[in-house]
Amino acid sequence: MSAILEIRSLTAGYDGVSVIRDIDLAVEEGGIATIVGANGAGKTTTLRAISGVLRPIQGEVVFAGTPIQNLAPHDIVARGLVMVPEGRRLFPSLTVMENLELGAFQPHCKRKRSDSLERVFNIFPRLRERESQKAGTLSGGEQQMAAIGRALMSLPKVLMLDEPSLGLAPVVVRTLFDIVADINAMGTTVVLVEQNVKHALSISAQAWVLENGSIALRGTGPELLKDDNTRRAYLGM
Ligand SMILES: Nc1ncnc2c1ncn2[C@@H]1O[C@H](COP(=O)(O)OP(=O)(O)OP(=O)(O)O)[C@@H](O)[C@H]1O
Ligand SMILES: [Mg+2]
Repeated sequence: MSAILEIRSLTAGYDGVSVIRDIDLAVEEGGIATIVGANGAGKTTTLRAISGVLRPIQGEVVFAGTPIQNLAPHDIVARGLVMVPEGRRLFPSLTVMENLELGAFQPHCKRKRSDSLERVFNIFPRLRERESQKAGTLSGGEQQMAAIGRALMSLPKVLMLDEPSLGLAPVVVRTLFDIVADINAMGTTVVLVEQNVKHALSISAQAWVLENGSIALRGTGPELLKDDNTRRAYLGM
């Protein structure tokens, strides 16, 4: 197995103040990798620095062998590294279809638009039923599906999901995790940030615990699930 995404000594933050410091991690191609940590630990900051939305203060982000830390976000998406941000960020007054189409704005994605749409609708039959509905009127679970669907329209090699289960009912969360596992099984590497620690770790080949902007623990998901520190801090056991 080789790393498709490598972060080397990554430091990032806001207004020159670092929030994450000296992070090193390598995401193996083909698996599910999860970052967990308390509120404010720097999980979202890490994903934003990887996806180019936030310019790192220091360090390197290497995607498929190429340093990308100086590229614009749309160039990073074009290479196949796609983030579904915290809070979904759909365009509420556009329809589901229009939101999905926005995911396919790069030329190589536009060419495959109808195949991609068919794939998204097969994964999320609910979106097909809702295609003409305004995104702002969807349920929370449907909005998360639309946000993931839009990301899939960008033909990701690596899909990064920031707290996809946040605010969803338990039964919807289970469906969502199944779908994430299916998307991974179809060949997309997944990087997950989750508060739903137990569920996320149980399906993760790799996992990191972020504490105050640094990596405190790393291992396979099941290893961290067994770890006493993780259990005390995140599982209340
Ligand atoms: N735009 C911003 N400007 C200034 N500080 C920020 C900004 N965004 C986040 N921070 C700070 O950076 C720290 C880490 O935030 P981040 O959003 O990365 O945490 P997180 O691990 O994703 O937390 P959560 O679980 O609550 O989503 C926090 O102290 C936060 O206040
Ligand atoms: Mg966050």
